[in-house]
Amino acid sequence: MFKKVLSILLFIIAVSSVAILSACAETAGNVYTYVIDEAYTEYVVMGTSADYPPYEWPLEVEGKTTIVGLDIEIAKYIAAALGKNLKVVNKGFDFLIEDLEAGKVDFVMAGMTPTEERALRVDFSPVYYESIQVVLVRDADVAAYASAASLNVASAKVGAQLGAIQQELAEATFPLAQRQYIQQVPDLVVRLIDGQLDAVIMEKAVADGYVANHAELGIAPFLIGDPEGGSAVAVQKGDADLLATVNAVIAQLIADGTISTIVAAAIALNESTAE
Ligand code: ARG
Repeated sequence: MFKKVLSILLFIIAVSSVAILSACAETAGNVYTYVIDEAYTEYVVMGTSADYPPYEWPLEVEGKTTIVGLDIEIAKYIAAALGKNLKVVNKGFDFLIEDLEAGKVDFVMAGMTPTEERALRVDFSPVYYESIQVVLVRDADVAAYASAASLNVASAKVGAQLGAIQQELAEATFPLAQRQYIQQVPDLVVRLIDGQLDAVIMEKAVADGYVANHAELGIAPFLIGDPEGGSAVAVQKGDADLLATVNAVIAQLIADGTISTIVAAAIALNESTAE
């Protein structure tokens, strides 16, 4: 309990010392409102899929569920730069590009990898946080799954998030395995723990968090996918004004070290508040 309170405090201090923004959050259904400044009258709307700690996940703060994570903290700076408050719409990851194209949201931040295929439909900022892909397994199996080949067999059950690059990675890397694609990452992890899956592909930061919070999990000792990957902000195709603001905010937050602080705080928060 003390550790939890301390980490939340550290998180708040870390974030508010780099930010003007002690946004108070409110919820209606799957929409979460963050007041950046009482004086702002408009909202910028972000789409996300809050199933991916430390990028974004639901957390009960003072009796209310809100969405926290590094993407939310960065989005607050984007909103502030626009002179707007922030609304976050929480959806399945596989809906996010569609919602952006349809104009239901103004931008998407969801630990999203800027792939060529997606770039045909939306415009991306530069990468704001780099990441590599790892394979989460049960800790007892780490030695047995020493190579990608060891999981590319008919008896192995490999899971990935529906519509994520990990789905394509599963197809490409483990074509001989049984593959399962599920919308929510925590559901994949539950299946891994109870033996319905043997491996789940995800970003390293996410896997590290699950390993820190679950002694029965481990990371297989090989990498897959693009070692140069990372997350970028997506805006509607041709939304040059918004993209210019997003890019300026990201360049600034990278240059002054704020993103590193935000990432460290989000990781600490995730590791201190796990059930
Ligand atoms: N980086 C991967 C992708 O873009 C996975 C992102 C999953 N994000 C999430 N919020 N569940 O496909």
